[in-house]
Amino acid sequence: MKSAGFDPHQWRVGVLFSSTGFMAVIEETQLRGTLLAIDEINAGGGINERELVPVIYDPASESAAFGRYAKRLMVEDRVSTIFGCYTSSSRKAVLPVVERLNGLLWYPTLYEGFEFSPNVIYTGAAPNQNSVALCRYLMDHYGPRFYFVGSDYIYPRESNRIMRDLLRANGGEMVGETYLSLRARQHDFLPVIRDIRRQQPDVIFSTVVGDSTIHLYQSYADAGFDPKVMPIASLTTTESEIRAMGFDVGEGHVTAASYFEGVSGPSNSSFVARYKKRYGADEPTNMCVEAAYFQVHIFAKALEQTNSTDTDLMRSMVLGSTFEAPQGRVSINATCSHTDLWTRIGRVNRCGQFDVVQQSLSPVLADPYLTGYGSPVGCQQA
Ligand code: ACM
Repeated sequence: MKSAGFDPHQWRVGVLFSSTGFMAVIEETQLRGTLLAIDEINAGGGINERELVPVIYDPASESAAFGRYAKRLMVEDRVSTIFGCYTSSSRKAVLPVVERLNGLLWYPTLYEGFEFSPNVIYTGAAPNQNSVALCRYLMDHYGPRFYFVGSDYIYPRESNRIMRDLLRANGGEMVGETYLSLRARQHDFLPVIRDIRRQQPDVIFSTVVGDSTIHLYQSYADAGFDPKVMPIASLTTTESEIRAMGFDVGEGHVTAASYFEGVSGPSNSSFVARYKKRYGADEPTNMCVEAAYFQVHIFAKALEQTNSTDTDLMRSMVLGSTFEAPQGRVSINATCSHTDLWTRIGRVNRCGQFDVVQQSLSPVLADPYLTGYGSPVGCQQA
């Protein structure tokens, strides 16, 4: 049955990232990565001669709006595929919708793991692909005493639980743990900075996201702390937040990610060039843009084969597929619907770019439930 307005010459897909509100600093970049891939696919003739058409809503950084728009996409817009979500709380809002209506959410963001849904393809890092290596690197290079500061929602709390376990298993200790509203402003960080000054940790492990990230790093800089001896380490602070806070404020801090703009290789240089051509020479790419970008290409390759966006057909075609992404070769792991990705650790330089200080020898198999917890992740010094 065709709905009014259904065009048989198009493939329509839903796109849900915030262009407004406190998460736009990063979600807008995921929207851009998604649209760049869609444009490339259409410039190449579309998929089986049908154009890929995004149906885009702006949930304005409100998790509940993601759930409402996901339902609207599936029920009113008759879309079965959704590219979207940054925060885990927005993913959790979309999850019951795609599960009930058998849609497929493509989720391009690192998260806390410990989730599986047959209705989600996870293309961001699971904790075994970022936290494990980061914990060891920080302990080896800075020391065993970590202070945790996070935004107050599921990803920071769960991610910190994992980091606390990793830390203890390696002989380290957590010396403080604080959560602030997702809407926290710079003055809200002052008590945290005072507590950090009292506790004198070796590392500040931040799971702060969105605009608050900029306030945290600026408060740190204003306090006169030195990243050489007590860096902020994060899984979420990318080139885009660094640009927003100022390169001088970000310099010396550490992030673990699958991708940085400076990753070498022809696939990444041409990706970065195309991104900058479209969005401006000053606009950096980042790990979230990259995942948002390559997941659309993986979807398109599968759709070419299935010639249908039916979720069951798509899932069976997508599982096990590989793609030469800007970060290197990635694969959708058929056992868990997560992606085998590269593990990298970077330190921000004075140009707002990450110098890679450590990286995996090959893609690291996704292990969202940390079943191989404690087993070594193959890493090499850069
Ligand atoms: C996140 O909320 N998964 C960063």
